[in-house]
Amino acid sequence: MKILFFGDIMGKPGRQAVAKILPMLKREYAPDFVIANVENLAHGKGVTLATMRNLAEAGVDFFTSGNHIYDKPEYKEVFAEFGDRLVRPANFAPEFIGDGYKIVEIKGEPVLIANLLGEVFMEKQVDQVPLTSPFYKINEILGKVGSAAKIKILDFHADATSEKRAMGFWVDGRMSAVVGTHTHVPTADAQILPQGTGYVTDLGMTGAAHSVIGVATASALERFREHDLERKKVALELPEEVKGFEVSYVLMEIDELSGKCQNIISKAIPNLEI
Ligand SMILES: [Fe+2]
Ligand SMILES: [Fe+2]
Repeated sequence: MKILFFGDIMGKPGRQAVAKILPMLKREYAPDFVIANVENLAHGKGVTLATMRNLAEAGVDFFTSGNHIYDKPEYKEVFAEFGDRLVRPANFAPEFIGDGYKIVEIKGEPVLIANLLGEVFMEKQVDQVPLTSPFYKINEILGKVGSAAKIKILDFHADATSEKRAMGFWVDGRMSAVVGTHTHVPTADAQILPQGTGYVTDLGMTGAAHSVIGVATASALERFREHDLERKKVALELPEEVKGFEVSYVLMEIDELSGKCQNIISKAIPNLEI
């Protein structure tokens, strides 16, 4: 089974990039299923009905998310319409809307797709605190799912590369693949861990080329230069004239009998002009 996975889709340039490149990738790789992280889908923060419909029409089958998932008030309508194919971090408190994992059918096989948020450096970035430990939460999920799905995939949305590496080894041999999201910068470590779990520390983003993780460079520079990180006075702005797209994804092949990852390749294209 081939699964194509995009990291954080950043605003309108991200949506445009997916709409343009996904038909080409489908012809090239023939994936059985396409997943994308949507926490930054609507102008860099959160989701709306229009942006979710747009991405679904572009050919994305399933949506994972992260700390920004509730940033737009329309999230309630989004979960009402897309709740069967959208997950939010499972280690948010249970009263928050949405499920942290789903079992979907791909090629007639049940497949678990789970979403978790890291704890390291995340305290100031989430309102849904306190988070429960992602390490114990994934044990709880795997215990509940048991043999109901042999193929199991995790989007671990975390800031620290070390926490993501640690998660990979924590579930090695118990899940088919762990992909990291949130930092928007792709890492060059796509690999199969010793017990057969496909792994990459970060998928990277899909959005505007020549940006600072999807944000207009002038706006991002001002935040850092003026030590304005806490107050976040500078609005998140996307480049007005997108001249090219940054596109990142992984393609993984998972053995349907064993649930192990057979192959994982990552692609990062810093400036795709299409
Ligand atoms: Fe993100
Ligand atoms: Fe995030």
